[in-house]
Amino acid sequence: MSDDRGRSVRTGGGQALRGAMTLLGAGAAAAGATLAYGRFVELNRFHVRRETLAVLPPGARDVRVLHLSDLHMIPGQRRKVDFVRGLAELEPDLVLDTGDNFSHLDALPWLLEALDPLLDLPGAYVPGSNCYFAPQPKNPARYLWLHTSLGTGVGRRREDPAALLPFREMHEAFDARGWLGLVNTTGELVVNGVRIDFSGVDDPHLGYDRHPGFAPRPGRDGDGSVQAAGAPSVRLGVAHAPYLRTLERFARDGAEAVFAGHTHGGQICLPGGRALVSNCDLPPSRAKGVSHDEGIPVQVSAGLGTSRFAPVRLFCPPEAVLVTLTARPSDESAGAGDAASA
Ligand SMILES: [Fe+2]
Repeated sequence: MSDDRGRSVRTGGGQALRGAMTLLGAGAAAAGATLAYGRFVELNRFHVRRETLAVLPPGARDVRVLHLSDLHMIPGQRRKVDFVRGLAELEPDLVLDTGDNFSHLDALPWLLEALDPLLDLPGAYVPGSNCYFAPQPKNPARYLWLHTSLGTGVGRRREDPAALLPFREMHEAFDARGWLGLVNTTGELVVNGVRIDFSGVDDPHLGYDRHPGFAPRPGRDGDGSVQAAGAPSVRLGVAHAPYLRTLERFARDGAEAVFAGHTHGGQICLPGGRALVSNCDLPPSRAKGVSHDEGIPVQVSAGLGTSRFAPVRLFCPPEAVLVTLTARPSDESAGAGDAASA
């Protein structure tokens, strides 16, 4: 090859290199901008999702349930505190907290300040792993490849007492305000004339879940006489992590709806909110919103926070969920509807 041709080849190589560097730079800038958006904007884009579940007996009055999960509170999170306090203006009839309330050892006062107006309302709670154990430093994108299929807590470091979060004080504060602790136990509340039978479990992600079943319904379970059951009632299963075994067991025990959190809605999602992971064996497509297991609605919250070591959300803003439990159509009206449409 001539010198001219040689020089020409070297020049072409330099242009290609410059082009590649420009592309890499643009890619790095776009990635940085996206991460900055996820860190400083999406993380604080709190909103309320609304759902309606027709699970109450015909004729029952509506029950408005405010479902909170995965607050992952850190001292200084004033916007989160103000948002949660403001949820009292929705005037829910009942508050359900499905755990992971902390992401810092000193967060209890901030958590209780956020929940203070809601603790005056009927409420119930279950713990998540981030109510017990302080988070560990980790890659923010860890959710994209870490998959705990069994939820047995195997391999987790639990021997350091300095890493224990103030869960006892939290439970005492909740109990003192009248919230029901559903830690592997049942509970009952009457709200708007509707008796709500709860079955709650400790965190399945840690393998702490021991299902208590549901308390018998007077006049219903013994002889099957619905007429003798008295007040209209509904059975709700409550857990932090929606492992499939947990949902299946709730369904088998007779739950009519299940509430859970843990997934963070996938936390780092594709545009449109499509989750890539659920951090458990629930399919990612069910990582937030209402889906069904054996005909039973399962409400999964995308949560209100993240680990302080993974402070990024993408296409998955933090949420509280206002779920209206409403009456199923009566057999008669369903029959009339069928006749009218025939
Ligand atoms: Fe969480």
